[in-house]
Amino acid sequence: MGEINDSVSHLRNKLVDLLRGRNAVRSPAVDSAIRTVPRHLFVPGVPLEDAYANEAVYTKHDETSAASISAASQPEIVAMMLEQLQLRPGQRVLELGAGTGYNAALIGAIVGEGGHVITIDIDQDLVDGAREHLAAASVRNVEVVLADGALGHPPAAPYDRLIATVGAFETPTSWLEQLAPGGRLVVPLRLAGAVSRSIILERDANGWADRGSEMAVFMPLRGIGDDARRTIDLTGTGEVTLQAHKDNHECEQAALAGILNSTRHETWTGVLFGSGVSFEWLDLWLACRLDNPIMRMNVEPAAKERGLVSPMFPTVAMATATSNSLAYLTIRTAPSAADGGKQFEVGVIGHGSAGPDLAERVRSDIVTWAQDSRTRSVRFALPDTPPAADPDHGRFVLHRPHRPITVTWE
Ligand SMILES: C[S@@+](CC[C@H](N)C(=O)[O-])C[C@H]1O[C@@H](n2cnc3c(N)ncnc32)[C@H](O)[C@@H]1O
Repeated sequence: MGEINDSVSHLRNKLVDLLRGRNAVRSPAVDSAIRTVPRHLFVPGVPLEDAYANEAVYTKHDETSAASISAASQPEIVAMMLEQLQLRPGQRVLELGAGTGYNAALIGAIVGEGGHVITIDIDQDLVDGAREHLAAASVRNVEVVLADGALGHPPAAPYDRLIATVGAFETPTSWLEQLAPGGRLVVPLRLAGAVSRSIILERDANGWADRGSEMAVFMPLRGIGDDARRTIDLTGTGEVTLQAHKDNHECEQAALAGILNSTRHETWTGVLFGSGVSFEWLDLWLACRLDNPIMRMNVEPAAKERGLVSPMFPTVAMATATSNSLAYLTIRTAPSAADGGKQFEVGVIGHGSAGPDLAERVRSDIVTWAQDSRTRSVRFALPDTPPAADPDHGRFVLHRPHRPITVTWE
């Protein structure tokens, strides 16, 4: 028993050290919570090494589609979002997406005995599991509720903090209404197509404004706020697929199947990225600019090896499509930077009858971003009265039924 405890605390400390090194853990409160809460008790049956790896642990899959529908999220994302939340002892917190109960236990550890956490999940088996895990870890200030989290939890409102650990396409009005004055909301918002960010929102005189955001992709909400994805198989073999969302119109399996066998049109942008530099802002720009926001194209290595596709990353590229055409991003090695650092040039590959036009359209949007917007910062808001969109100057208004989202390159 003593040996197991030693090895658990060794693994847990190793994980926190790694998360500190990656700048995901920054505060003493989050550091101490992750060092204290026994993650392995929230993923029973999983080997200790895996319970303390910096990886998500998938715990439930949809019976029909086999898609993951619950998980203990990757510790790096968990830590990053807890830092975004800026919890204080004594606070009342609502979490949407209880899953295993682990994140709620971390929140409980930070808000302490004087604080209270309510966490919601939509499936009875997950709620039962989370309750068992929390009891096994002797967590006493977390309550697990079975409900559709899109409605929040009015009986215990208002909350000082509200965090969604499930992806939303829209911030439900209930979440905004259930926050206490001066409260903070952290929500992984799918902005357009494949682009999602965990955004900190606080109320100001004009509506809800961001106080920072980080890239984060979560499994989508089910139920009222359903944001299910659909898969478009481009090869008929599952080797190359597009992950389409409800705002990805016009692209249907029947028209796009086999499109990679049509003539390939390749075009280069002259836009360079250093090794390890994130593409997140370019992706966001393309998601906002393109008629059909970029989607994730997943590629099996064999399809790349036989030259059918040349994705930007080993198994993934961002792509857009029309009813009869496809364009996706690629890269090639460019001359090194002045400091000797490796560089890559971004290109676009088009297929289908309008493939060349679509690839050129994407190329031109990438060039515009590099010339006008690459060095500008981006702000997000849910204003009470949205301003007019001005895409040519980097102001986008993303349509949502209740409150549009503004994305502004400043
Ligand atoms: C990534 S997991 C959350 C991880 C969790 N916080 C943890 O620490 O284990 C996402 C969870 O959101 C839940 N979910 C999906 N739609 C929901 C909804 N409408 N209301 C509440 N929970 C929902 C899923 O069942 C899943 O358990």
